[in-house]
Amino acid sequence: MLTVSAGTKEEKYKELLPQIVSLTSCEPDVTANMANAAAAIFETFGFLWVGFYRVIGNELVLGPFQGPVACTRIKYGRGVCGTAWEQGHTIVVEDVETFPGHIACSSMSRSEIVVPLKKDGVVTAVLDIDSSATATFDDTDARWLAKIADCLV
Ligand code: SME
Repeated sequence: MLTVSAGTKEEKYKELLPQIVSLTSCEPDVTANMANAAAAIFETFGFLWVGFYRVIGNELVLGPFQGPVACTRIKYGRGVCGTAWEQGHTIVVEDVETFPGHIACSSMSRSEIVVPLKKDGVVTAVLDIDSSATATFDDTDARWLAKIADCLV
């Protein structure tokens, strides 16, 4: 069971991270760990959509997620996810309407963060989170979500 008390974003991530570490550290299956991480982040923050896209061949393919149904495949360099894969670093989008080529899986999405998961320096998946409010994500999310991403590869 997940236990994260009310508090600032920083305090919530601080409580969440060790629980994700303990959920994932003894389990070698990446899909199982992504599924629990998506559920834990979703339950803690109540974001619109939390999930993973895995690199398979020359596309990102939908992996474990929580939230509304989403597009299943994203090409390299396309949308926020494909751009984060191409650039190999986290992208924070304060207002999705200002991001050229943003892929709208849900008309409710207003802001987004995408964090690449890397194994030996190579992007193997991305963690994608959507919010129904603008400017939800900042450096605090980027820093803590990178630590969460490190538990999953
Ligand atoms: N908005 C993403 C697509 C995935 S959904 O948000 C779940 C993008 O532009 O890559």
